[in-house]
Amino acid sequence: MCGIVGYIGSRNCVPIILEGLRRLEYRGYDSAGIAVLRDGAFFIRKNAGKVADLANALGRENGTLTAEVGMGHTRWATHGEPNDVNAHPHWDQHQQVAIVHNGIVENYMAIKTKLLRDGHTFLGGTDTEVLAHLIGVMFEECGDLTAAVRGALREVDGTYGIVVISPKAPDKMVVARKGSPLLIGVGDGENYVASDASAIVAHTRKVVYLDDGEIAEITRHRVRTMTIDDVTVEKQVQQITLELTQIERGGFEHFMLKEIHEQPETILNAMRGRLMVDEGDVRLGGLQNTIGKLLSARRIVLTACGTSWHAALVGEYMLEQIARVPAEVEYASEFRYRDPIVNIDDVVLLISQSGETADTLSALREAKSKGATVLGIVNVVGSSIARESHGGVYVHAGPEIGVASTKAFTSQLTVLALLTILLARARGMTRERGVVLAKELATLPEKVAQVLQNTQVFRDIAEEFKHCHNALYLGRGANFPVALEGALKLKEISYIHAEGYPAAEMKHGPIALIDKNMPVVVIVPKDGIYEKVMSNIQEVRARRGRIIAVANEDDTDIDQLAEFVIRVPRTYGFFGPILNIIPLQLLAYYIAVARGTNVDQPRNLAKSVTVE
Ligand code: M6R
Repeated sequence: MCGIVGYIGSRNCVPIILEGLRRLEYRGYDSAGIAVLRDGAFFIRKNAGKVADLANALGRENGTLTAEVGMGHTRWATHGEPNDVNAHPHWDQHQQVAIVHNGIVENYMAIKTKLLRDGHTFLGGTDTEVLAHLIGVMFEECGDLTAAVRGALREVDGTYGIVVISPKAPDKMVVARKGSPLLIGVGDGENYVASDASAIVAHTRKVVYLDDGEIAEITRHRVRTMTIDDVTVEKQVQQITLELTQIERGGFEHFMLKEIHEQPETILNAMRGRLMVDEGDVRLGGLQNTIGKLLSARRIVLTACGTSWHAALVGEYMLEQIARVPAEVEYASEFRYRDPIVNIDDVVLLISQSGETADTLSALREAKSKGATVLGIVNVVGSSIARESHGGVYVHAGPEIGVASTKAFTSQLTVLALLTILLARARGMTRERGVVLAKELATLPEKVAQVLQNTQVFRDIAEEFKHCHNALYLGRGANFPVALEGALKLKEISYIHAEGYPAAEMKHGPIALIDKNMPVVVIVPKDGIYEKVMSNIQEVRARRGRIIAVANEDDTDIDQLAEFVIRVPRTYGFFGPILNIIPLQLLAYYIAVARGTNVDQPRNLAKSVTVE
């Protein structure tokens, strides 16, 4: 989603801002812009399209542009179409302030109506331009930029991460956060602001995370943090551990491919220091303070969006069938608005890669307000969901840059497997049984590495099916969510319409779609329902559907039925999804590459969806 980077110091901020924007591209965006202070005035450029287009335009127009204060933005359109005018930065009626903004001003129409009555004219259709005008009005009234921002934000409903600069206050940036992440990078005689650490990690590792409701006045040598009522807030400077190599492609053609191949290591990282194979048990430090609540929970409600929701569905199978804990899964986007029945003896488990997904964060707050214990399974350290949860487990997958989530998913599943073993043991599972499960879980990184060894089969399938318009993904039990996730991966990056279904449900409707052109991807491990899935495959074949099977290495029967067979090692049933999703990620990837789509930044998608 939208990205922000800003700089104040004594170096030329233009390359710093452009580089920061490039590092934020992975979040997904449709326009980009920059505003700097130069010779007592603004220099602003913005355009629909990519950061490269912006850099080219700057190079053409003013190759020697230098400035010591400035800010940049990548916009993912919410209000107003993605064009040059609606791109950020925006400015006020008299060009005294410029603003970049992540989030949504919900009451912007009411504010705009009033400003229009006062004679203001607007260039575009965004909520942000309205906020710029409002700050401009307050600035004219009080002459203090920080006070003007505070005053304007008092009138705003909605969410924001903003940076405001003015040629009339050339030695500061004013930034504020409510609902959209913002951090300040602390340098020596220079300071930065960004919506995401990756934008500034090349320059500083010292950061201050703003909390909701906080405003900061940033000069070259000082950061003053305050509330909206001007009460000073003392903040801790924290050290970020992110390495530059983690946010670079490292020889892979795409971040998504790099991240798929990182999975043997990221799955291992999710277990490291937590899985005690010899004891058949698990230790999760982040749950220390809430373990009593977890063990006595009446039920666990898992809630999330997108890929993380698919992980939750797998988690439901694991928790109910291995640990025998009642579990339910909810879309986070639905949870909040249906006045859910949640009690103090419920545990609500939020799953999120970014830890910033607005719907998931709202579900967390809803559950918390009803007295439930809320726990997070999160990747991004220090993110909002991690900070607002009573406890939780980091998945330690490292930065995920590809918009289509891959390694975060398998790490989420690994943490859910760990949680399941922990709860199962606490609820009476024998040590022997725990050891069997723990040993099997420990083999998964090696087994995933095996699946990743041969990618030729995926290239062959991609060549065969790259022109198809639809695809069906089938699986049963814990592999049903894998079918959903495989279908999601394909549609996200190749734009082929794909549906995931429980294999046996196919005959209740989707079977009508099957003809000789329909690829049907079936996950068919040798488990207790193998024969049933084989029957479903026969049903597809009888209608001349084209079968791509994800099957175990020792399955010879499948060769008779499937046009393509992708082999995966055997594993214990509920850990199967961790292995079976890998071929589906690769399949989506190679089909997208064969179709020539933008794999890492698919159209219309954002990495972290911070609006509802
Ligand atoms: O950061 P989160 O895990 O909360 O994000 C949830 C979804 O937005 C995300 O999984 C989305 O569906 C991805 N594009 C999936 O590839």
